[in-house]
Amino acid sequence: MTAPPTASKPTHIAIVMDGNGRWAGRRHRPRSFGHRAGQKAVRAAIEFCLRQGIGALTLFAFSSENWKRPEEEVGALMQLFLRALEKEVDELHEHGVRIDFIGDLAAFAPELRTRMAESAAKTAANAALRLNIAVNYGGRWDIVQAARRAAVEAAAGRLDPERLDEAALAPFFCLADLPPVDLFIRTGGEQRISNFLLWQTAYSELYFTDVLWPDVDAGVLEQALDAFARRDRRFGQTPSQARRAG
Ligand code: IPE
Ligand code: IPE
Ligand code: MG
Repeated sequence: MTAPPTASKPTHIAIVMDGNGRWAGRRHRPRSFGHRAGQKAVRAAIEFCLRQGIGALTLFAFSSENWKRPEEEVGALMQLFLRALEKEVDELHEHGVRIDFIGDLAAFAPELRTRMAESAAKTAANAALRLNIAVNYGGRWDIVQAARRAAVEAAAGRLDPERLDEAALAPFFCLADLPPVDLFIRTGGEQRISNFLLWQTAYSELYFTDVLWPDVDAGVLEQALDAFARRDRRFGQTPSQARRAG
């Protein structure tokens, strides 16, 4: 089938990495076993984006709602994040990956926060791939923090509240310096956003797969890119207008 003229590769992919717990459950292992197994899929996704020349990858690693999980699971996840940062950052740096963290980082232990800041600082000048890890992130939190920062600017007289429009508010959101997410992927079979990026996905193409996150490999991501290439992105225009614009 010939792809429509608007088809192209995404420049920014966001992934809800879901299904670790079920993956472990099927093997009669604790949920933390699934989270550890998920790390291999994280590496596969990063390598895939590097190979495909995709500029930005934003991964949902821990939502603002995930604190509700049993203390033991949250603790295991925090340990895993810390160890992953210790183990993986040098190699990512060698591959030219710039690592950033989005979310309310104040909630994390000082050791983890320091490690996140160090990883971001070390890789800040890299340009092969922008990797954003969303931790204690919530789309609604992002909207609130953007509104709060805009309000602070207004109170200081640097922003006229009457002139606050989409373009004026946009710079206050996380990932403001990146193109909007064009492909939103969720693994694990659920078809919901779960409070991930809200503003940034206003016109994303959504792709859902039943594959559980630890089983994700280049083939699964390839299928997502193929589906994206077949989408007809119109952005509100008529099909013939969109074809002309594309
Ligand atoms: C996603 O997998 C990882 C995190 C939310 C940290 P889950 O842990 O949600 O796995 P399922 O959905 O229970 O299978
Ligand atoms: C979303 O998955 C969060 C992450 C993948 C980090 P959840 O498993 O927490 O979402 P729900 O509970 O199915 O909405
Ligand atoms: Mg889940």
